[in-house]
Order: sequence, then structure tokens, then C-alpha cells
Amino acid sequence: MAGSGFATETGTQRYRARQAACHPTHFRQLQDLWASSIGLGTYLGDADEATDALYAEALEAVLALGDNLIDTAINYRHQRSERAIGAALERLMQRKAVAREEILVCTKGGYIPFDGAVPADPGRYIIDAFLRPGFFQYDDLVDGCHCLRPSYLEHQLTTSLQNLRVETVDVYYVHNPEHQLDHVSRDVFLGRMDAAFRFLEAQVRAGRIRWYGTATWNGYRVNPKDPGYLSLEELVQLARRVGGESHHFRVVQLPFNLAMPEAYAFENQMVAGETMSLLEAAARLNLSVVVSASLMQSQLTRLPEAVGKLIPGLRSDGQRAIQFVRSTPGVLTALVGMKRRAHVEENLALTRLPTLPPEQVAQLFARTGSR
Ligand SMILES: NC(=O)c1ccc[n+]([C@@H]2O[C@H](COP(=O)([O-])OP(=O)(O)OC[C@H]3O[C@@H](n4cnc5c(N)ncnc54)[C@H](OP(=O)(O)O)[C@@H]3O)[C@@H](O)[C@H]2O)c1
Repeated sequence: MAGSGFATETGTQRYRARQAACHPTHFRQLQDLWASSIGLGTYLGDADEATDALYAEALEAVLALGDNLIDTAINYRHQRSERAIGAALERLMQRKAVAREEILVCTKGGYIPFDGAVPADPGRYIIDAFLRPGFFQYDDLVDGCHCLRPSYLEHQLTTSLQNLRVETVDVYYVHNPEHQLDHVSRDVFLGRMDAAFRFLEAQVRAGRIRWYGTATWNGYRVNPKDPGYLSLEELVQLARRVGGESHHFRVVQLPFNLAMPEAYAFENQMVAGETMSLLEAAARLNLSVVVSASLMQSQLTRLPEAVGKLIPGLRSDGQRAIQFVRSTPGVLTALVGMKRRAHVEENLALTRLPTLPPEQVAQLFARTGSR
């Protein structure tokens, strides 16, 4: 298989060395791996062949320009994003344009994915594809679309590995686990996360994933009193219980951008009795932070003039918005959804530039406490 193996220290270091035009601040460490400060996101776009082709072209372009972290999820574009990335990666590896050890392939499971397109009867599809074969029971399903049961995650991980044409994914995220908290008690939720983390630690031992994490939307950004709040310390304690001190829960993902600054500016996490931001908590607990929606789904490509002026010297507001995210202390990678060649080139031109000094990032936001 073209995709045997996984990202390694030597492979990612080799990739980094080959990207001589990239500024030294561009590559950062996720445990023993070197990851780029900008990563390819694959969420948006129509579920059609034209969009598959755009993502395949974007993958080739980003890998050539210094981005070695790819983010996807089984449900994105009804599995078409994973499949498009898998097919393109296989071609690139066969051509030896890139080696499996050089790149981080990251995906997520939790949401029920369709198979290429929305079926005529989604309810019937869920019954036939998941309930009848026994991947989950009706009570395991939340909101008709989300499930964390290990037998279901096993099926999803197996499908993702097939879609992506790899034997191992470098980071496997539990997708938006906080969605469960809208529907079940915190005790039930923590029991489900315990089972999910046990399953994920077993998958690390089986060589099917290297690291795991939680990819979230609101969970790490809201007030601790919010029913959907996620405490990073609580989840790390859970990972330690199931995986010991050398557990593999090492990555979190959340949105962070000029309009959603909580990860940096909102001290809503507590570690060892001290309140701090999510970015500080992750650093304290030895986790990496990958940022989603760096452009707030393209809305930050036109900034108010006063904000744009605070990040001078760049050629577009899109670049300014991404530069802010990749420069924020504690951010590993700013994910950017980019299918169009012009967007890829504009965004990855930043890899040649140093990140902003921390004081300049600090100027942009005054910190606010959670209480
Ligand atoms: N809960 C979660 O786990 C979660 C949630 C959201 C996102 N994510 C991840 O994070 C990634 C990034 O977030 P996102 O894709 O939602 O939003 P985003 O990166 O904030 O924005 C992507 C949009 O911006 C456009 N764009 C990119 N560069 C541009 C530029 N220079 N000028 C103008 N427009 C530009 C893209 O257009 P084109 O594509 O047409 O080039 C696309 O429509 C996702 O793809 C996904 O992998 C995870």
C-alpha cells in the first residue's frame, strides 16, 4: 500500500529541511514531529467531482509550498473529502513527490457520514448502515447524527483508513464531543468519553493511529458554567486513567480567529487550581492546539480598516487574518480551507515570513476572565 507507515521525526524533519524557503518560525513540534504553521482544511464545498478535483490539486500545491498537515473528517462532503485526499495522496506518493513519513494526516469521527451524497431516505440509511449491523444501538445515537460508542468508532476509523488509503492516521479526533452534552448528562458524557479514549489508546497500540484528540466547536470556548463546556484538565485526567502518564491524547482543535479570540483571550480553563486560557492550559498539559476556521469561513478576508492596520505589511486581509492565528503563542497550526489555486498561493506566501512577535498579538486583545 502506498500509504503504509506514518509521520515520523526523521520524515517530517526531512520535509522541513527541503522547504528551504520557509521561515524558521513556520515549522513547530507536535510531540516528536515537525508540523507546518498552516494546514489544509477540507470541510467546505459541494459534494461533487469538480470539488474533489479542486481538493486534489490543492493538496499537491500545499505540499509543494510547505504545508505538511492535512485535516479532514469522515463526514466532510459525505466522505468525499477523505476519498479525494486519499486518492491524491496515493498518486503523489507513487510519484515520490512526498513520502508518508513526511506528512501528518489527521481525521475525525463521531458524526454519522453519508456515502458520497445525501441518501433519499437518511433515516433508512442510518438503520441499514449502522443500527441493523449493530455498530450502535438507538440509545447511543444523539440528535440523530452523533455517536461515540467504541464499536461505531471502530467502524468509522476503519472506513477513514480505507478512504484515506493509509494504514495509520497521525491524529484521530473525536469530532465535536460537546454535541453530546446537549442531550445527555455530564456523567453519561464522561462515561462515553472514557470508553472512546480506551478505544483510541487500543488503536494506538494496534498501529492504526499515532495520537488522538478532541476537535471541538464551542466546548473549549464557552464559560465553565455553560452546559456544553469542556474542561481540558478533566479530559487529560481521563486520558491518564485509561492510558497512564504516556497516554496519547495530545491534540485539541477549536476555532480561533480575529473574531473568535477565546482560546487566547478568555481564561476559562483551570489547571492545578489556576485559571488560564485554553492555549495556556494545553501548553501546561503538553497538548498541541490546531486551529479551525482561521478565516471564519472566509468572512475575515475583508477586515475593518482599523483591524487591518494592526497587522501591516501584508498584501491582503486574508493573509492578515491567518498571520494573526499562526503567530499566536501556543498555536501549532492554523487550518485554512483552500480549494482555489490563487487562495493556496496567497495563503502559503506567509510561510516565507516570520510570525508576528507575541507583543503584537497581545496588543490585539485584552484578556477577559471567565467570571
Ligand atoms: N469542529 C471541527 O472540527 C471543525 C469545524 C470547522 C472547521 N474545521 C477544520 O478547519 C478547517 C478550516 O476551517 P473552514 O474551512 O471551515 O474555514 P476557513 O479556513 O476559515 O475558510 C475557508 C474559506 O475561505 C476561503 N479562502 C481561503 N483562502 C482565502 C483567501 N486568501 N481569500 C479569500 N478567501 C479565501 C476558502 O475558499 P476556497 O476553498 O474556495 O479556496 C473557503 O471558502 C476546515 O476545513 C476543517 O478542516 C474543523
